[in-house]
Amino acid sequence: MDPFASPHNLDRELHSLLALASSNLCDWFAESDSHNPIPDSFELPEVYPAKKGISNKVLLSELQLLMNGSYRPSHPGSLAHLDPPPLSASIVGELICAGLNNNLLADELSPSLSSLERNLCKWFCRKMGLGDLSGGVAASGGSLSNLMALVMARNFAGLGSDPSAVFFASDDCHVSFTKALRIMGLKQESLQKIPTDDKGKLDISSLSSNLKKIKSQGKKCFAVVATAGTTVRGAIDPLSEISRICKKEKVWLHVDGAIGGIYGLSTKTSEIVQGLGSADSITVNPQKLLGIAKTSSLLLVANKNHLSSTFSTGLPYAEPITGSDFHGGELGIQGTRSAEALKLWIGLRQLGEEGIEKILLDSIKRRCYLESIIDSSKFKIISGPLHLLALTPINYTSSQASDWSIKTRNFLLVNQFMLSRPMYGDRYYLKAVMGNPNTKFEDLKLLANLINNSII
Ligand SMILES: Cc1ncc(COP(=O)(O)O)c(C=O)c1O
Repeated sequence: MDPFASPHNLDRELHSLLALASSNLCDWFAESDSHNPIPDSFELPEVYPAKKGISNKVLLSELQLLMNGSYRPSHPGSLAHLDPPPLSASIVGELICAGLNNNLLADELSPSLSSLERNLCKWFCRKMGLGDLSGGVAASGGSLSNLMALVMARNFAGLGSDPSAVFFASDDCHVSFTKALRIMGLKQESLQKIPTDDKGKLDISSLSSNLKKIKSQGKKCFAVVATAGTTVRGAIDPLSEISRICKKEKVWLHVDGAIGGIYGLSTKTSEIVQGLGSADSITVNPQKLLGIAKTSSLLLVANKNHLSSTFSTGLPYAEPITGSDFHGGELGIQGTRSAEALKLWIGLRQLGEEGIEKILLDSIKRRCYLESIIDSSKFKIISGPLHLLALTPINYTSSQASDWSIKTRNFLLVNQFMLSRPMYGDRYYLKAVMGNPNTKFEDLKLLANLINNSII
């Protein structure tokens, strides 16, 4: 049994292994709604390699154990996080990507796929309204895209070694910015938090006054982060107004559109993220709503030269690239990278522009519907224009809200609905993300009923 596919002729063993594994995966999908979104318990297979390798039959049975213990994103009640089921073409893209095993580090290790990534990023940039000089790079997740954006912004401002450099983001910005500042060797106070308004959006006047204050203290600001789609409620910061301030103050604007950026892809939803195109950089995560298999995140930049001027080191062990482009490994923090653009490209091709638009519009419809049938005399609902909402009982103390959230989350799980339980402000909420295309209005009626009756 040769564990590598034959380079000479059809490898029947690989053929049969793929067929069996695909069949098991299809069965796993098919039985999704007869299980809970997450299993109550699970059994791990043997973890360490045995002395001798095991047969394909045993491999598949061990694999099955892991599959049985997995979260099921395609269950109609899987509504907890930003993890929708994968598009079928995207699954194929991931499989083929593993088989090709190309490396986006350098063009010679991924000739067609490096070119695909460049062109796909360009398409995203155009759709998001970035200009002719724009470009981007794929990164393994939004946290990494955000980190790279900040490193680039700091480099652009010439503040790479200034410990007093600061950046601004709202109170509701994602935790990845806290990680970023630690990695960048900055102090906690380098992240200047701006309060949000009652809709969860960054307060503009506070941003203006804080920028002035920082200046008067002799500190330098290298970026303002605006969030297009906050993690708990999907709020969109006022992008156009923030951009005007950034232009006036000559400060880099990074939009963390890991959640909401994708709405820029359709003219029917792009108004929600108006102003996106005036950013210097944008994080967008097709994995979070479009059903591109994880991970899929892009860092898009209005002027792609900023990527290379920040990250390029030369790649002395790879053939130089012709033209003005840089190797993928010179456009970001990662060296070796898998060709994540492949599953993104094939997923988008499968959907077409109409399919993309439908996913975006349907997600908002589901959120609006759920919002309309939750009893607003019992619950405070927080949401924005996207597909997320969170709710907590009105008139509960924060300790009562905490007890309610634990009890209700468990009760919903027993009834095959999985919601998450974020802490927001001073209390716990239950959060529902309407990114699952398998969730029908009937399911939402049932869910609302259970939630409404969780308080008498
Ligand atoms: C607003 C926002 N930005 C960034 C991220 C980080 O993305 P990732 O989990 O892909 O690193 C998240 C994750 O949920 C998010 O909600």
